[in-house]
Amino acid sequence: MNGRDLVRAVKDIGTERGRRAWRSAWRHRRSDAVGLPRRGAERARVPGLLTGTEARPGGGVLRFARSELVVRVTVGGAVFWSWDGAGPTPSYAVVGEGPEPDPRAVLEPDTGGGWRVVSERVTVAVSRHGALEVRTPGGAVLRREAPPRWWEPVDPRMGAARWLQRSEVPADARFFGLGGRAAGPRLRDGAYRLWNTDPKGGFGPGVDPLYLTMPVQMVVADAGTHLVFHDNSWDGRVVLREGEEGAGSGADRPGASELRMEGGPLRCWVLVGTPARVLQGWAGLTGAAAVPPEWALGYQHARWGFGSAQEVRRVVAGYASRGLALSAVHLDIDHYDGHRVFTVDEGRFPDLPELSRELEELGVRLVSIVDPAVKAGDGVHASGLTVGAGGAFVRDARGGEVRGEVWPGECAYPDFTDPAVREWWGGLYEERLAQGFAGFWHDMNEPVSFAPFGDTTLPRSARHALDGAGGDHREGHNVYALGMARAGWEGLVRLRPAERPFLFSRSGWAGMQRYGGTWSGDVESSWEGLRASLALVLGLGLCGVPYSGPDVGGFGGSPSPELYVRWLQLGAYLPLFRTHSAIWAGRREPWEFGPEVAQQAAAVMAERERLRPYFVTLAHLARRTGAPYVRPVWWGTPEERRLRDCEDAFLLGDALLVAPVLECGADRRAVRLPRGRWYDTATGAAYEGPGQILLDAPQGRIPVLARAGAVLPVRGASGGGVRLEVWAPARGRTGGGVVIRDPGPGFEAGEVERYTVRWLGDAVVVEDEAGNPVEGVTVRGL
Ligand code: NOJ
Repeated sequence: MNGRDLVRAVKDIGTERGRRAWRSAWRHRRSDAVGLPRRGAERARVPGLLTGTEARPGGGVLRFARSELVVRVTVGGAVFWSWDGAGPTPSYAVVGEGPEPDPRAVLEPDTGGGWRVVSERVTVAVSRHGALEVRTPGGAVLRREAPPRWWEPVDPRMGAARWLQRSEVPADARFFGLGGRAAGPRLRDGAYRLWNTDPKGGFGPGVDPLYLTMPVQMVVADAGTHLVFHDNSWDGRVVLREGEEGAGSGADRPGASELRMEGGPLRCWVLVGTPARVLQGWAGLTGAAAVPPEWALGYQHARWGFGSAQEVRRVVAGYASRGLALSAVHLDIDHYDGHRVFTVDEGRFPDLPELSRELEELGVRLVSIVDPAVKAGDGVHASGLTVGAGGAFVRDARGGEVRGEVWPGECAYPDFTDPAVREWWGGLYEERLAQGFAGFWHDMNEPVSFAPFGDTTLPRSARHALDGAGGDHREGHNVYALGMARAGWEGLVRLRPAERPFLFSRSGWAGMQRYGGTWSGDVESSWEGLRASLALVLGLGLCGVPYSGPDVGGFGGSPSPELYVRWLQLGAYLPLFRTHSAIWAGRREPWEFGPEVAQQAAAVMAERERLRPYFVTLAHLARRTGAPYVRPVWWGTPEERRLRDCEDAFLLGDALLVAPVLECGADRRAVRLPRGRWYDTATGAAYEGPGQILLDAPQGRIPVLARAGAVLPVRGASGGGVRLEVWAPARGRTGGGVVIRDPGPGFEAGEVERYTVRWLGDAVVVEDEAGNPVEGVTVRGL
């Protein structure tokens, strides 16, 4: 227990909830003491020497004295390998059975007694000691894995083997990913834990881990980009150390990654190529991203503690009377009856269906928080007890229901790794739909159980169905929220088949994007928090979760007017654009910060509205291609090394480069440009990249640059219809882009419209795919 925890623990004991949390924490400790296997003596193991090989489709099996390695290149180029006979399925991340082996890949002898699998896009070489290299077809080494090391209990009944995998990457490589991290997006030297965690009381850049971790790294180097995924949901730790170049002396020190897992299979996927190609492969492997409904790409307002329907009406009227576009209002746990999920406080929210109808007339949807923990003894709990043979809730090693402490008091936890439980839970959203809710916000699903000491989650010995495999919370913890998202998504699709659900969740794991997005959680109301919220969105995008955003203004404090505006300006260019705050925190309505800020906020929100069709296009592209809406500036040019270190700007799709102000008092900022011509959208001035420029950033705006030749679908001035805005290509060059219009609330894919932009004499013309000129286009940058 650190000092902060100790103070909290002592304080907690003074309240009824605090006392219950103490009791719950003691219970969890006791159940682990009896329910978890004691590790006892362990034996270390390494693979030993190669003893034989056997070709198989896509590669082969390599037998070593004390393990065996399967290497398989699959159609599309993804590489799978595993030790000790682990297969690619069952997996919570990979869809279906995973991709087919590539029949053209061949296993052949390599130099030095090793073997290699050669395929069109990648070569995997294995030494006779079990070291493994991923090489480009040209022979450059992208990743080198040392032979793994296991520690196994001498008595096999004493549980799982821990393991360690050390890897090397090129000296110039940079690491990204590992889910949603507060620091970054470039992951610097240090340790990163793989255990979904509520950091309690908000977080800034120094806090790790957070709510949504995943064993996914994107590594960017001159030799190429690769994504590596260790498909294992157990608790783990990654230690990263960036490499150093010996400035031509040949004394390069490679970058290093060390992964230690507390159990589970040693199996791994690697995807190689450009960043775009790698993420396309990742979406193929783990599933295409859900497309949020069109309204979820507009501005949304949340608050913990609206307190009543009247207050919601007052806030919505505040937006409407100022002409500020508001797309949705989110109701937090205070609209529940006694904080109990799937209930309504009828006193303070007497007629939610009517409220939702009223709001819908103003174009505002209602979104509901959904917490997983169910109050022991209430109606939902009783209904859960009828599921299957043993009820819907997580049990301990002795068969008793595991209880924890959350907002409503003593709670039970649905086991979302059980298909029958997912089905039951999905059905409960019927009540929410009947109340008029259009979208769902999953919270507290790491899952959280308040505790003054120990882990603020379920005991590790708690049992989970794990979809038939059976296991405990050490394996089930990190995929708990993923299962909840699946339950919610599938339930909503059953209940309302004509509409795609809107769902976002605080916690999750690899594959999360199939069901929806996520958000920052309780990011602190500080300049550091602002910076962290950008790092988080960028990092998640590189792990295949494209839809996310922060609590604009931070969760728990009262931002200064300047910080609030800067946060709004960043949030307006992120997929989930939502103000939110804690019940004890200051307000987040733009007019609460004085007339100057109200005016600046209005401009930001109007620009988001104007760009909404562009966000729609990006949402559909994310589904089709795996490319996140928000991309690091090195996305198209990973070989431009300086861009890999840029953490304070991002690309929004192909067309825009956004440079938010992340520093107090700044009214100009440096912007590093990728190559090509870029226009300052505020002044129209053109700049040539690569290079660094200094741009004005008065409090009323942040620098946003448009790429020469870009095509942006924007909303017409009168509010209706989609227009094209085009930025002139450099003379002698052409440009172009794609547009996908909102196909409606259902599951239609939307048609891809392709446009080209070129100079014709002194004019810039835009043509559709058939070569017909497009009318009514605004050309800028002339
Ligand atoms: C924690 C969530 O992160 C926050 O957004 C929410 O307001 C509170 N729980 C209360 O539900």
